[in-house]
Amino acid sequence: MHPMTESNLHNAYAGESMAHMRYLIFAAKAEREDFKNTARLLRAIAFAEQVHATNHFMRMPRTAAPMSGEAPFGVGTTSQNLQYAIDGETFEINEMYPVYKETALFQGEKVVVTSFDWALQTEKVHQKLFMDAKAMVDQGKDWKESKVQICETCGYTIEGDAPDKCPICGAKKEGFREFA
Ligand code: FE2
Ligand code: FE2
Ligand code: FE2
Repeated sequence: MHPMTESNLHNAYAGESMAHMRYLIFAAKAEREDFKNTARLLRAIAFAEQVHATNHFMRMPRTAAPMSGEAPFGVGTTSQNLQYAIDGETFEINEMYPVYKETALFQGEKVVVTSFDWALQTEKVHQKLFMDAKAMVDQGKDWKESKVQICETCGYTIEGDAPDKCPICGAKKEGFREFA
């Protein structure tokens, strides 16, 4: 694998791993603030980030050296936490994944392009869901009572029932995990 793509894949793995844990920590806090539905949304999306981390990890060359990644630390109120989540998703959508994807494309690293693309498309949904949740929480209300479905292959995230086919990776309905 080209060193630049390998380094980007490594960073993406680190970022997704930390987002997974951060969202679980934020979910525990939302639970304590009595925002049960918001906590469920955070746990569902934490699982989507686990899918992304797994996809990147599986594509990492065995020879890759371990490294540490950046992280915004600290837990605020659920409203602040949702803003941190929105900021992280926005960075991935606007800067990280488009640049990583173009680099991998340029270097002909096809399986990595797919892993980055699945994450990029999913993060757009996460950004919107977190914005909805923050708008509710800022009015002192919890997020909606809806189920959240996560595609176990690509992390695609959708409210309500699972689609017959994942619009991003084509996985079947049975390939979704429900958070209800
Ligand atoms: Fe992700
Ligand atoms: Fe995300
Ligand atoms: Fe999928």
